[in-house]
Parts: sequence; C-alpha cells; structure tokens
Amino acid sequence: MLAYLNGQFLPRSAATVPVDDRGFIFGDGVYEVWRVINGRLFESERHLARLTRGLGELRISPPEIARADVLERVADHLLNESDLKEGEATFYLEITRGVAPRTHQFPPAGTPPTVYATVNRFNPPEDVRSRGATAATVPDVRWLRCDIKTVQLLPNVLAKQAAAERGAIEAIFVRDGVVTEGSHTNVMGVLDGVIRTHPTDNLVLPGITRAVVLEIAKRLNMSVSEEPVTVPDVPRLEELFLVGTTSDVMPIIRIHDHVIGSGRPGPIARQLFTELRRYMDTSCPPSDHAGAGAVSASQ
Ligand code: PDD
Repeated sequence: MLAYLNGQFLPRSAATVPVDDRGFIFGDGVYEVWRVINGRLFESERHLARLTRGLGELRISPPEIARADVLERVADHLLNESDLKEGEATFYLEITRGVAPRTHQFPPAGTPPTVYATVNRFNPPEDVRSRGATAATVPDVRWLRCDIKTVQLLPNVLAKQAAAERGAIEAIFVRDGVVTEGSHTNVMGVLDGVIRTHPTDNLVLPGITRAVVLEIAKRLNMSVSEEPVTVPDVPRLEELFLVGTTSDVMPIIRIHDHVIGSGRPGPIARQLFTELRRYMDTSCPPSDHAGAGAVSASQ
C-alpha cells in the first residue's frame, strides 16, 4: 500500500516520522477517516469541515491538504496506485503539530505540521450486521473535548480491548449514567418508537454517519430525539445500534448478557441501513457514471 507523507508519495513501509514528532510524543494532532466507494470519498466535504474545525480548536494552521481540491487529488492518487478505485476502501488522514524538541507548549510559529495519509481495502461487516452484534459498556473516562477527533485515543483503545476480550464488537461509553458513544462509533437507541442519541456537545464526536442517518430518519418520518439513552433506559430499549464510517448502521442485540429488544436486528436499524446504503451507492457511483455523484451528493 502507498502512503502520502509531507508532500511525497511512498510505500507505506518507507513512510517514517522523526521521534520528535508531536503526534508521537504528545498525541498532538487530529485525524479523519473517510469511507471510499468506487474510488469516491463519501461525504467528503463534511469530513473535511470537521477536520478543519479540529485543526482550529488545536490552533494548528491548516496545511494544503485541508483544501478540498488537494485532498481529492492526494486521495485519488493513493487509491489509483493501490488499485482501490473499485469496491470499498477507507482513506485515513492525520495532521500533527509537526516536529520539534519536546516542550509542552507549542513549537515556534512556522513549524510545519506533519501530514500523513493512506488508504486501505475495506470489507463491510455484512455477516455480523445480519445476525446483530454484542457490545460491552465501559466507564467513559475521556477528557471533556470528545468533539475533537484527536489522535489521543488511549481510552478508546483500552475500552475497545476490554470489549474484545468479552467477545463484543464495540465498547459503549457510559458517563454519569448516560450513554455517550462507542469507542469509534456513535450510539442510537429506540425507546417508545423514538430514535434517541446523545446531542452533539463536548462529550461526543459529531459523527458524519450520525448526521446522515438522522437526516434519513427524519426524511422517513421516523421520530428522532437528540436526548441520550440512560442506563435505566436500557432494559426498555426496543433497539440499539451503532453508526459510523466503518460500521454504517450496526444493530446491537446484546449488551453483556442483557438481550436488547427481540434479540434480533430491529426494523428501524434495518431500514436505516438499507437507506444509508442506497444513499452511499447513489452518491458514489462507479466512474463510468462520472458526474452523477456530485449531483446526488448535493441534493
Ligand atoms: N471513528 N465516535 C468516535 C469516538 C469515533 O472515533 C468515530 C469515528 C465516530 C463516528 O464518526 P463518523 O460517522 O464520522 O465515522 C464516533 C473512526 C471511523 C475511527 O476512529 O476509525
């Protein structure tokens, strides 16, 4: 697989950063993950807007790749050279505050950010989706700026590992008796027929899939409330599902040993997945339909 590092394309095995990189030393950087379908970045602008906002919050000057045309060019080259213009893939981009001797405060103005990007083949987890998955709850011990997509993911890593050790697909964070989000997904529950999810405040990442799924739900006249699921709500949940770039809509049928709803993927999750998949496919058509993507994505 090919990588892009600070303006150059090179084999990923040859892409290295100095040990003084602030991403390595402090986790001082942000990242994004795009879904790629038929060589096109799904919801390209929304991911780029979240990245730009994150850079602003961290006060890192946006490098060239934060321009839509440069981003598309880099992604296109990586996908082409990695033979990923067909089928599904992910595009990963990370920007750190750059390389400087270790001091906590920012390095001198003008220190160039480190820019790294790569692509990977992606196989959507359709087997698990059709059966439904299990999740584990984990205390949400993260900082109070979970709205920024920083590379500081240690609590997420530990949570996901704890879930994996219990045979669960995802760790669901709980803070003060409230479900916030997953280690790499947002969480939605259905209670009394209403889709509930944590509002986009400082305690969760404003997920792009979350936003798209909520738009689809409203278009389908489903009831939506940006009010979180609480721990006491869990026994009454009719459905629970994860939403995210690498999960789409993933039904959760068990939390630990507690069965959710009917114990099978529920009708709301299934319909939302069908509609999300349809939207993904129409907004990212194969390239012999060039142009159609731009039209449907802007509708
Ligand atoms: N994670 N919440 C967290 C903590 C996340 O890390 C992610 C995405 C999401 C879902 O956001 P989106 O729908 O924009 O992917 C929610 C990516 C995929 C990752 O870290 O691999």
